[in-house]
Formats: sequence, C-alpha cells, structure tokens
Amino acid sequence: MTKEVKSSSIFKQIAGLWPLLPGKGRLIFVVIASLGLVGFAIFLAHLIRMLFDALVVGDGTAVAHWLRIAAAVIAGELSLRYLRIRAAGAFAENSTAQLREKVTAHLLRVPMAEFAKQHGADYISRLTNDLSRVQDFVTNTLGNIIFMPLAAILALTYMLYTSWQLTLIVVLGTPLLLVVASLLGGPIGKLSKELQEKLAVASALTQESTQGMEVARAFNLRGHLSKQFAGALREALLCQWALVWRRISMGAVSFLLTLVSFFLCFGVGGWFVIRGHMTAGELMAFVQLMDHLTGPMSRLPALLASARADLAAGERIVDLLQMTTEKTAGLVPSDSSSAALEFMAVDFSYEGREEKVLADVSFAVKAGETVAIVGASGSGKTTLLRLISRLYHPRGGEIKVRGLDVERWSLEDLRGEISIVAQDSYLFPLSVRENILYGRPAASEDEVVAACQAAHAHEFIMSLPQGYATDVGELGGRLSGGQKQRLALARAILKDAPLLLLDEATSALDVQAEALVQEALERFMKKRTTLVVAHRLSTIINADRVIVLEKGHVVEEGTHHGLLARGGVYADLYQRQWNNGQTRLEAV
Ligand SMILES: Nc1ncnc2c1ncn2[C@@H]1O[C@H](COP(=O)(O)OP(=O)(O)OP(=O)(O)O)[C@@H](O)[C@H]1O
Ligand SMILES: [Mg+2]
Repeated sequence: MTKEVKSSSIFKQIAGLWPLLPGKGRLIFVVIASLGLVGFAIFLAHLIRMLFDALVVGDGTAVAHWLRIAAAVIAGELSLRYLRIRAAGAFAENSTAQLREKVTAHLLRVPMAEFAKQHGADYISRLTNDLSRVQDFVTNTLGNIIFMPLAAILALTYMLYTSWQLTLIVVLGTPLLLVVASLLGGPIGKLSKELQEKLAVASALTQESTQGMEVARAFNLRGHLSKQFAGALREALLCQWALVWRRISMGAVSFLLTLVSFFLCFGVGGWFVIRGHMTAGELMAFVQLMDHLTGPMSRLPALLASARADLAAGERIVDLLQMTTEKTAGLVPSDSSSAALEFMAVDFSYEGREEKVLADVSFAVKAGETVAIVGASGSGKTTLLRLISRLYHPRGGEIKVRGLDVERWSLEDLRGEISIVAQDSYLFPLSVRENILYGRPAASEDEVVAACQAAHAHEFIMSLPQGYATDVGELGGRLSGGQKQRLALARAILKDAPLLLLDEATSALDVQAEALVQEALERFMKKRTTLVVAHRLSTIINADRVIVLEKGHVVEEGTHHGLLARGGVYADLYQRQWNNGQTRLEAV
C-alpha cells in the first residue's frame, strides 16, 4: 500500500518536470536504443545457447555459422551503444541548460512582492544545488527508470520461454527484494529534501556573513555567526549520514539477495540439465540473461530512491516556475498632450504589512518639469518611485504615465520610458563598460564615453586599473558611494529615456563632487521630465517644484522659496537638515 502511494508520487513528480524538459525526442531515442541493446543481449544469449549445444554435439559448421552471426551482432551492438551515449549526452546537456535558462528568465518576471517572500540565498540554492540534482536525474536516472522495467519484461519473456520453473525461482526472490527496498528506501526522499533545506540554511548563513562582512566585523559577530554556521552544518551532516547509512544498507541487502538467487538458479538449473529437462546451452543462455532481469530488479529500488531525492529537488524548481509572473502585455499611449506623470489618490502598503506607506498621494508632473520630493527617512519616497516603474502595485488609486494607467502599459515599453538612478544602485560584477552599456546595449563606445563624461564619471574611470575594462566585481567595495552613483547616472544618461527617476543617495558627496554631479544633472534634466528624491539643497532649489512627503502623505507642495515662506513642514525640515550650510545656500 505504502509503496503504491510512493510510486504514484514519483510519477506525479516526473509528470511535473516532464513538460519542462525540451528535446524529448532524443530521450525517446535513448530508451528505444537501450531496448535495442537488450534485444541484442537476448539474441546473444540465444546464440550462446545455439553455440553451446552445437559444441556439445561437435557440429563444426554450425559453430562457425553461429560465430559469424555473433560477430555481426556484436558490431551492431557497439554502434547502437555509441549512438545511445551520444543522444543521451546531448539530451542531458540541452535540457538542463534550457531549464536553467527558463528558471532564471522566470525569476526575472516574478513580481517583487512575491520574490521578496524568500531569502535570496534560497533562490541561489535552488539555482545551484537543486538544479544540479535535476541535471543528475536527467543525465543518469530518468532514462533508466523508463528503460529498466521494459528491459526486465523483455528478459523475462525469453527466460519464461526457456524454462518457466527456473524463472519462477528467480522471480519469487523479487517481492522480498522490493519489500526490503521500500522499507529501507522510503524515508530517503524525505531525508534528501531535509538535507537540501539544511544546506540552503547553511548557504544563507555564508551569504549573510560575506555580504554583511562589515557589520559582522564591526559588531564582533564572528563567534555568534560561526556558531550558527557550525550548528547548521552539523544538522546537514547528521542528515547526510542518515542518508548514507540507508543507501549502504539498501545496496548490501539487494546484493545479497541477488547472489542467493543466482546460486539457487545454478544449482536447480544444473540438476535440470542432469535430469535432461533442459540442455546445457539453455542453462548458459538463462544464466547469461538472468542479469538482465535481476539487474533491473535489484537496481531499481536504489534508482527509485535516488530519483526520489533528485525529484525532491526537482519539485523545488517546479515550485519556482509556478510562481506567478508579472503581466507584460499592454498598450502604449499615442496621445502626448496629458501630464507626463500623474498620481491619483494612490494608496500603498507592502505585502504582509498593515500600515500604509503611501496614503492618498496625488500630484502631477508636466512634461519637461523637474519635481523634487523631500521628506524624512522612511516617509515613502523610494517606494513612490518603485510604483512608477511597476515594481509594486498600488493598493488603491491610479498612476498615469503619459495619460495611461501604468497597469495598462506594456511592461517593457513602460520601463523603456523610464531611466532610474536608484539610491543604492546595483552594479553587476562585470566591467565598468558593460555595466554602463546595460543602459542601452546597442550604444557605441563613443556614446558610452560621452555619457560618462556627462555624469562626471569619465575621469575616475580612467584612473581605475584597467579603465573602462575594469571589473566592478574585482573592485569589490572599493568604489565610493558617490562613484557608484555617478556610474548609475551614466547608465541612465546612456539610456536616454524621457522620464528620469532619481533617488539621490543620502550619503553626502563632497562639495566639489556635488557641484560636478549637479551640473551634469542639470544639463541632462533640461530636456526631460524628472522626479527626483532630493537630499541635496542644490537639487531642491533647482527643481521647478517641491513635494513634501510625511508618513506617506503629501503635506505640502510649492517652490523652495514659497514653502520656506510658508513656515510649515518643509521650513522645519530645512531648518533641521540644511540650514547649517548657510554659505552653500547663499552661494546658490
Ligand atoms: N521592500 C520592502 N518591504 C517592506 N517594507 C518596506 C520595503 N521597502 C521599504 N519598506 C518600508 O516602507 C517605508 C518607506 O520606505 P522608503 O524606502 O520608501 O522610505 P524613504 O522615504 O525612501 O526613506 P530614505 O530617505 O531613508 O531612503 C519604511 O517604513 C520601510 O520600512
Ligand atoms: Mg529611500
């Protein structure tokens, strides 16, 4: 009973993975070729029987005849074996490469809110550990699982035809084998899933301690983190041992059982030959083929157990692929008379959190206008920018870009319309040039340099060890906050989209760098509609309008001077944040 439940779940798991594997024609060829090989083996056994019987009666011409046929069969067998290996290799390579691609592409389309529900390391573990287990499965196990039962049936047919009594002896040993195997193999799938999860925990900890290196050192967390890591590893190890033990005992038991049935068969078979119930050739053929019946039967349990483990990993991949994706299809507005950007009574809160991050936010930005958003830390400024490029969706209200609700835009076109310089821009571990080219992959070298010059990044890039070819990953943390932001700005300048969203880094640039970036920005912003989360006074003063955000509400709106004169929230903020830099204010 329990066995039935398990095997049906294996079929279900394979059925889940099946549609994800491309090029199954090759796999089917592999299975057919394998069956062909079994056919050859049976035929060879038959030849041995004929040869042996011919030898016993001393018929020389028959022996020569059968030997010639055997040579042809062996040649055929070898070529088929070669073709099968080639097809199996090609299938495994292709299917796992494409699966990897599919999963990565899928993840990029999962909504941020959905994506954020799990730790980053969990995804990494799925893309590495789990995928390589699936690769293992596809390479070594899948074909065998389909082929072995069929091979056993073929061998069984010939054996029954040769001697049903002997076959009975071999077959009777089998249920015993299966019972033992399912008793020992049952928990293997569960244990493996547990092991994968524990490994994921351990790798999450490694990731945390490398990424959080600065904090970990500054707060003396070394002891604490390594204790946690050791604990996680110990648990994974215990799990691993339990698995190894089960595998070993299963292997030993199946081996013993096969051995016993082999000797039994030879003993009884020999007696049959002596009594004249069968010829010596028939016994030789039978023994030769026995391997093709007991082989699959004794290996199948171990194979199923390892399949269970691999399929547990496969399930985690299938889960990933079942995460819902963003809707990408939509429209592009044709009418350009409406406001470039408009928020209409927008409400927003992050998934799983009660409090509203944005509440009833309404404002409009005309084409070509520059609007600054200011507000205390945590007031929702970055969140507001995220909603525009549809990284998250408003709970209520509407956001319009060029008069069309962002929800109705074609996602790709909407994102093509927007350049973003984030507060803490991520730089990929590639060369500086490639990082900037991500703004517009088709751009020429001259355009890249021009963008970097405009962002005042060219000079410091040239001072890097290999200039534009310097690997950002190798630089590690050696770029300053301001340098990173200028690279991000160059990327946005290169993209040259009509709507610029700028999230100024809170860390202050030095006065000179600030002036340079400011100048670059001003030139760039002139032709574009810009929404800038501003922390620098110079940005705010240069904006056409200022919107003041407090706890997710728009509390004031106006020009810098107008708002100062009003003496409200903005004036307050100004007094606290910028009024100590009196000279800088006067200079403007
Ligand atoms: N991904 C997220 N998931 C859940 N809550 C978030 C997320 N990002 C931000 N928040 C919360 O939303 C609120 C607003 O955050 P937001 O980043 O928009 O503030 P901000 O105005 O940009 O602040 P700062 O000036 O410090 O950058 C904060 O309370 C923050 O804790
Ligand atoms: Mg922010």
